[in-house]
Amino acid sequence: MTVLDTPLSFMRGRPLPNRFVLAPMTNKQSALDGTVLDAEVNWLVRRAQGGFGGIVTSESGVEARGRGFATEPGTHSDAHIPGLTRLADAIKAEGSLATVQLNHAGMRGYRAEERVSSSDDADTGARALREDEIPGVIAAWASAAARCEAAGFDGVQLHGAHGYLIGQFLSGTLNRRRDDWGGSPENRARFLFAIIDAIRASTGPEFQLGVRLSPERYGQDLFEITAVVERLIDERKVDSIDMSLWDAGKFPDDERADRAPIMRHFLRIPRGAVRMGVTGRIRTGASVRAALDEGSDYLAIGKAGILYPDFPRMLLQDPGLEPEWLPVSASYLRSQSVGDGFIEYLTTWKGFISDEAPPEGSAPFVSAWSDEVHGIKPVAVGAE
Ligand SMILES: Cc1cc2nc3c(=O)[nH]c(=O)nc-3n(C[C@H](O)[C@H](O)[C@H](O)COP(=O)(O)O)c2cc1C
Repeated sequence: MTVLDTPLSFMRGRPLPNRFVLAPMTNKQSALDGTVLDAEVNWLVRRAQGGFGGIVTSESGVEARGRGFATEPGTHSDAHIPGLTRLADAIKAEGSLATVQLNHAGMRGYRAEERVSSSDDADTGARALREDEIPGVIAAWASAAARCEAAGFDGVQLHGAHGYLIGQFLSGTLNRRRDDWGGSPENRARFLFAIIDAIRASTGPEFQLGVRLSPERYGQDLFEITAVVERLIDERKVDSIDMSLWDAGKFPDDERADRAPIMRHFLRIPRGAVRMGVTGRIRTGASVRAALDEGSDYLAIGKAGILYPDFPRMLLQDPGLEPEWLPVSASYLRSQSVGDGFIEYLTTWKGFISDEAPPEGSAPFVSAWSDEVHGIKPVAVGAE
């Protein structure tokens, strides 16, 4: 028995049964209208069966124009509730905590003509949200969270990472507004904190709320994001904070920051009962140990969870685990409950799949395989 298989309590709701959480991963296995389909359920349930105590879904659009991908799950309509209920029931039947990642893609929405953002953006064609529209967008996050609660999910995680709409407001470069929603770091964070308040007002006292943030790239500033994390902790309105780091052990890009692993910059902040997890290149026994030693309450696992649905069990059995790594074959992925829609998507992640060329017209997310970059999606992406 190690800390890895002990439960983690939260300020609200059910505890996480162990310290392994499947990181949110878009898998493009839902219907075009956002209805959850079997393949999405199967992929996640297999990971719950493999010992992931927490399952976070793919990003899911809180508004139709905020969907990042045509076939991601939707949370923007009551019509999504039955599919979401099936997913929540199936995850919870395996004993895992079930969380939906809520997102608004903003300028990265796949519906090019409807893109909105904090400010106008010439590259993507997004237009700045008018001041009088912003309360409606905040209300959409709250309604989406209420739908997830009605469907039986334990909670939601707000996607504030990777340069989507929350990140577009937080950013000092992308957000050039002159009203209350732009300018100072406090003003740029207003959108995130208003969403949190709106969700707390629209959901019950036991509903869990988490926030995911990127502290660098995507127009973010390490020190500003540190201040956001400190405020999230002080206000105690969120139960968990997930730092998306792409490589939790690397040094920050910002030369003003100490030469310490980037995860330490966040894990060292006193956080009381607010839980914190880190993500990025945690895939071996040694990297799991390092993140726990730095004080991470749980580990959010991405690609290792795609390759190895039983990753938690494998690691509990072999604390020195060093699993085989990428690339892998499509048939291997199929055998691990990764459906064809997801496999097709993974062919656009260069270096992932060994035996299939990227589909005609698709643009890779990254110009070369690199774990650390989940680049801004090119605007003219083939099939989408
Ligand atoms: C195929 C794929 C899809 C992803 N989709 C999302 C997503 O929907 N939301 C999100 O916050 N992160 C997403 N990520 C990032 C992962 O959650 C994770 O942070 C990243 O893969 C780094 O962790 P890892 O080294 O364990 O893979 C995605 C990653 C992959 C590989």
